[in-house]
Amino acid sequence: MSDEVSQLADEGVARVAAAADLDALHELELELLGKRSRLTAVKATMRDLDPEQRKTVGAALNAARTRLEEAVTGRRTELESAARRVQLEAERLDLTEHLGRATVGHAHPITQTWERLEDVFVGMGYRVADGPEVETDWFNFEALNLPPSHPARSLWDTLYLDPAGLDGVAAEQLLLRTHTSPVQARTMLAAVRDGWGPPIYVVCPGRVYRRDTADATHLPVFHQVEGLVVDRGITMGDLSGTIETFTKAYFGADLTSRMRPSYFPFTEPSAEFDISGPDGEWLELGGCGMVHPNVLRSCGLDPEEWTGFAFGFGIDRLAKVRHHVEDLRDFITNDQRFLEQF
Ligand code: DAH
Repeated sequence: MSDEVSQLADEGVARVAAAADLDALHELELELLGKRSRLTAVKATMRDLDPEQRKTVGAALNAARTRLEEAVTGRRTELESAARRVQLEAERLDLTEHLGRATVGHAHPITQTWERLEDVFVGMGYRVADGPEVETDWFNFEALNLPPSHPARSLWDTLYLDPAGLDGVAAEQLLLRTHTSPVQARTMLAAVRDGWGPPIYVVCPGRVYRRDTADATHLPVFHQVEGLVVDRGITMGDLSGTIETFTKAYFGADLTSRMRPSYFPFTEPSAEFDISGPDGEWLELGGCGMVHPNVLRSCGLDPEEWTGFAFGFGIDRLAKVRHHVEDLRDFITNDQRFLEQF
């Protein structure tokens, strides 16, 4: 009978090990160890045995029960941790999925254009210079050959600052710079003072201000890039070659540029430059010319020794043309649907 009991235990242990899930294990536990189990039935027959046999069978029954109970507990632990793994897997928050779906931000289209322009000119050996947005009348106008009563001052609708209350800080008139051209004067003066030039090859990107109402083609706050070259023997040919090189580097090899005679107080001769759009149409980009001798003199340079060219154009305008943006105001309204396209 003891052999039968231990065989029962062997079979039972094997079935417990194969129990597929916790419910099946529970059924099996009742079947193998419960009131209706074979073990219970065997135990009931013990009273008919003689004391010696009863002892051995009793021991066999206890051993069988212990083995089966241990097997059930072990299998339950296995099944529970498997179930937990399944649940964890099902409830897991896959954060990488969210990362993939989130839109990663990028620089504003104007900033992108600004940086591309810098790259193009740095690639041509230029340095990047900057200056303050609050300027003095001297840098914004006078140093650029625009004395106080010069009629061409009206070309720039200027926003002046009221220095009252600054208690004598500003004896000069302060204004918001109307163009990046004052950085030309600052750069020449700094080059002479600090002894690093001429030769001077700089571009000066920056924010500028005009007393203008915003419309599709004007913004009261916008951006320009100024270019300045001062060296020996610089000619108009260098200027037109530079503009042509920049046009191809920025817009592509199939585009070209041209210059038309124009007037600016700080250059002589002066020109406006255009680029030919993909459709063959000419688009006005900016102004340029040979640096006026008065400007060189204002900045401590001898025009007999040094010559140079300068140019200036709008970054916003450039981005508008390149990306076929209809209305400049789209750049400043911060509409995600617009900005996401760049
Ligand atoms: N400063 C001019 C403007 O704002 C643009 C310009 C014209 C800049 C000719 C130059 C230049 O350096 O040579 O309209």
